[in-house]
Amino acid sequence: MTQEQDREFFRNYSIVIGILAVMIVIFFILARVFGIDESAHTSQRTGEVSELTRPVGEAVVTGAEQPAVEPAATAETVATAAPPAAAAAPADVGKQTYSGLCFSCHGTGLPGIPQFGDKAAWAPRIAAGTDLLHEHALKGYTGTSGIMMPAKGGNPALSDDEVKLAVDYMVANSQ
Ligand code: HEC
Repeated sequence: MTQEQDREFFRNYSIVIGILAVMIVIFFILARVFGIDESAHTSQRTGEVSELTRPVGEAVVTGAEQPAVEPAATAETVATAAPPAAAAAPADVGKQTYSGLCFSCHGTGLPGIPQFGDKAAWAPRIAAGTDLLHEHALKGYTGTSGIMMPAKGGNPALSDDEVKLAVDYMVANSQ
């Protein structure tokens, strides 16, 4: 290499390094500007997402009376809340409650317990009135059988409505 070539190489190399340095500065600035903007946006989205998912999750898990969709709900919330609301129609709640608990005594043929579908066993009880049956199922009852019907079938976590609907479901299928 001649000295001339060395000098030319050094000049070109300096230009390249200089351009790279300028680009690094530019990218650094761009990254800061858009980086901050992006993180603010993300936390806002996170808030939106948890707001959208919160009421839907609760409605599905508890299976309690379906609350009307909250006033603040968006179209997306309405869309996702619809299926659980439909799945928890009163008849289904009664059936689910019966199958989940009441069945263990009222559907297994245990003697002395009015069995699901046993018209003769249910006729006199139904004649006493649905209100009384609801009350006995909610508060517990020991009648002629001498065996105790525990309050809410023994599960205090059940809502009053769930128990009443389960009674209605059994009555409807035993007359
Ligand atoms: C641990 C067993 C058991 C479970 C679980 C149970 N029952 Fe009963 N149930 C009884 C017995 C025993 C009777 C009969 C009591 C009597 O007439 O002496 C009865 C009677 C009833 C009656 C008739 C009450 C009346 O006035 O004649 C209704 C209604 C009833 N149960 C509803 C339910 C519902 C709803 C559930 C579920 C949430 C449920 N039971 C779960 C044992 C049970």
